[in-house]
Amino acid sequence: MAIFVPFCFFYNSIQLLTNISHMERITVVGAGNVGATCANVIAHKDLAREVVLVDVKEGLAEGKALDIWQTSSINNFNTRVVGVTNNYLRTKGSNVVVITSGVPRKPGMSRDDLIKTNAVIVKEVTERIVKYSPDAIIIIVSNPLDVMTYCAFLASNKPPHKVFGMAGILDTGRYRAFIAEALNVSPKDILSLSLGGHGDTMVPLPRYTSVNGIPIHELLAPEEIDKIVERTKFGGGELVNLMGTSAWYAPGAAAAQMVEAIVDDQKRIFPCCAYLQGEYGLKNIYMGVPVKLGKNGIDQIIELQLNEEEKKMVQESANSVKKSMKALDELKLFK
Ligand code: 2OP
Repeated sequence: MAIFVPFCFFYNSIQLLTNISHMERITVVGAGNVGATCANVIAHKDLAREVVLVDVKEGLAEGKALDIWQTSSINNFNTRVVGVTNNYLRTKGSNVVVITSGVPRKPGMSRDDLIKTNAVIVKEVTERIVKYSPDAIIIIVSNPLDVMTYCAFLASNKPPHKVFGMAGILDTGRYRAFIAEALNVSPKDILSLSLGGHGDTMVPLPRYTSVNGIPIHELLAPEEIDKIVERTKFGGGELVNLMGTSAWYAPGAAAAQMVEAIVDDQKRIFPCCAYLQGEYGLKNIYMGVPVKLGKNGIDQIIELQLNEEEKKMVQESANSVKKSMKALDELKLFK
């Protein structure tokens, strides 16, 4: 005992210092390209003791999890990655859950074409998750993103600061990559924001974009900025056209970055899909806005002082999201 007590103390101190295994269990639902990438990034960053990957397709999650786990000794991480087929009991007590379930877009499809199919899937998955992990923070990645986040919110019966969606990090990730390329600078130095729905009406904000504090307008001509903004808005579609299916590296990494901010209680400011209750003059709508992320989920929604043109674009984006939300309501999945 005399040895045991100091050892425990020592072990806890080491854990605090190295920040290893910050959380017990993180679940990623959907072992498709996005889900598997997300699980892979979470494991690489050692964000939890265990990542559980779930899928409906027999053997898929088990196989991908095993493959990721077999990189642990090569890539130096401890997070145990396991896969299960539809076994939600195995996800019990998860601290954070990322839902990527649903079908991806094919060329010629808009994200909204997926509402009917994916709403049924997201509803069922959310209910099963909440049954075994009532305290989990839920991050939605399924498309169409804003309305699927709303769907999960309705299915979860949880407060909205614990149910929110990924997309702004992905959209600004694309935007930042395009700017870095245009200026031949490090993408790490591009700071930016985007508002609105995760669709063609999204609103990347040049006025809130800088290269480590240097306003983008001082470095790029207005027409170059416009071109980059347009390319960003259709960034997902560009990849669908190239690959015949939607993207996964950036969406998976973006969701994992949100998990990291929560797990480490980082209080980072990211554009995320959050439930607005009066902010930006909008009510009862899930849409992309800057938020502060920490261990309780969304700590704060940040309201920007938008100019008239920006306000108009945000309103148009909100109208488009509202239309998708109406399409969801018309499915009458919720009493
Ligand atoms: C994208 O924009 C999958 O919606 C996602 O690539």
